[in-house]
Amino acid sequence: MKIILLGAPGAGKGTVAKLLSDFDGSVQVSTGDILRAAVKDGTDLGKEAKDYMDRGDLVPDSLIMKIMEARLQEPDCQKGFILDGFPRTIPQAEELQKLMKKLEIELDFVVNLEVPKEVILDRLTTRRTCSNPDCQEIYNIKSNPPTAEGTCKKCGSPVIQRDDETEEAITNRLETYNEKTAPLIGFYEREDLLKSFKSLQSADTVTEIEKSLKNR
Ligand code: AP5
Repeated sequence: MKIILLGAPGAGKGTVAKLLSDFDGSVQVSTGDILRAAVKDGTDLGKEAKDYMDRGDLVPDSLIMKIMEARLQEPDCQKGFILDGFPRTIPQAEELQKLMKKLEIELDFVVNLEVPKEVILDRLTTRRTCSNPDCQEIYNIKSNPPTAEGTCKKCGSPVIQRDDETEEAITNRLETYNEKTAPLIGFYEREDLLKSFKSLQSADTVTEIEKSLKNR
């Protein structure tokens, strides 16, 4: 599959992407995960991105496009990809269109995850993430807790709260989403590529997306 996942912070993009990649081996490409790994490794990219991320602001488009142009040409993307958290602005979406044309890639569709604001706020404050950059399993202390010792059920690493999960950063991320990312819904609607999913259960959403893929 070649799809984009759109949705507010906490809508469940990462959770749905991980379930979808089990479906046919398509790779999850999360710009958030790529950036967090760069911050952890202390690379130049990480140093440049960290302050933006901790505040809940978007990292500059030019930096993101440089990462994604290289990432989409890696061999594991040839089989299929699920773009999680990219594009995030109209300029990124326009650049992505040009890049796909150049690489002769055609998207199946764009998934918009619709989740009410109060559910989102609750999910973000209760999310925990595996600290192992090769795993990054997503947990939720209410709906899907890690082990009683606070470790990852998959790889045993400590499960932590992200640096951008302070109340101030969460508020800013939601405002940034409304201002910069929500306009992509109209953008992809006009391209006739948008499919919206209202279900609150990730497994149901994944089943619906798989059905749409089979019927395309
Ligand atoms: P990023 O990592 O992309 O963060 P985000 O968009 O804010 O999305 P989240 O990861 O917070 O949420 P999600 O929708 O994946 O939800 P999840 O599945 O975890 O980006 C982080 C930062 O990087 C940005 O702020 C920006 O600075 C930078 N960045 C990244 N991409 C960029 C770009 N393209 N351009 C510029 N800057 C960029 O689920 C959330 C919680 O809910 C979890 O606890 C989960 O277990 C739980 N949950 C999920 N689904 C359900 C369900 N159905 N029922 C119950 N609980 C559920």
